[in-house]
Amino acid sequence: MKGFIRIFLAVFGSLALAVVAIAGFRGDFTKNTPIEIFPDMDRQPKYKSQTPSPFLPEGRVDRVPPYGSIPFHIQTDQPYLITGKMGSMWGTGIPVTVDQKLLARGQERYQINCQVCHGAAGAGNGITSQYGLVGAASYHADKYRTMADGEIFNTITHGKGQMGPYHHIEVKDRWAIIAYIRALQLSQNAPSNLLPPESATTTAAKP
Ligand code: HEC
Repeated sequence: MKGFIRIFLAVFGSLALAVVAIAGFRGDFTKNTPIEIFPDMDRQPKYKSQTPSPFLPEGRVDRVPPYGSIPFHIQTDQPYLITGKMGSMWGTGIPVTVDQKLLARGQERYQINCQVCHGAAGAGNGITSQYGLVGAASYHADKYRTMADGEIFNTITHGKGQMGPYHHIEVKDRWAIIAYIRALQLSQNAPSNLLPPESATTTAAKP
């Protein structure tokens, strides 16, 4: 037994020494190519941009954008329209014509894209709140009543905090949604001078 332990220790000791001699200490610097047991897909065949390709139908590596693609970062002569910024500040105002048609479109796009989380009236209580996604903003908070249109545009485009980006919504539709959100806000907080006289009297204090 004793003989076995001695041999074991000797073999183990020299193996450990051999490993350290070959592989070095952890953290040591070396100019040699590292020993690679699993290559982790470090090197693989790839295409370089602007080169031909017999594999792809266009015969080149760069694909043609599909019809209807929406440019994401582009320079135009209307920066406010696509960034929500005027100079370095959030701008305000809807830069497309606001009419019944645009509001109807905004309502439809809102119902498709936003209502699940923000709720039909924009109170932040969409169906997802019943499944654990809480914290969607209520547009009826003062913060959002006074928030610049451009900042809301930016939230739709890039997302904010827990909310993901919605830049697949066309630029004009994003503004239509904002116009509709403004209508929702007004619906919950209309100043009394904007109300028709018959509804104003129902809540007016008795003389
Ligand atoms: C999947 C759920 C979800 C959807 C869909 C969604 N939102 Fe949100 N939204 C959130 C959450 C959650 C927050 C709060 C984000 C935070 O503060 O982390 C939020 C915040 C916001 C805010 C406030 C951002 C701020 O500056 O505080 C605005 C404005 C907004 N959403 C607009 C929209 C609009 C417009 C749409 C549709 C195009 C939309 N959201 C779709 C979940 C969603």
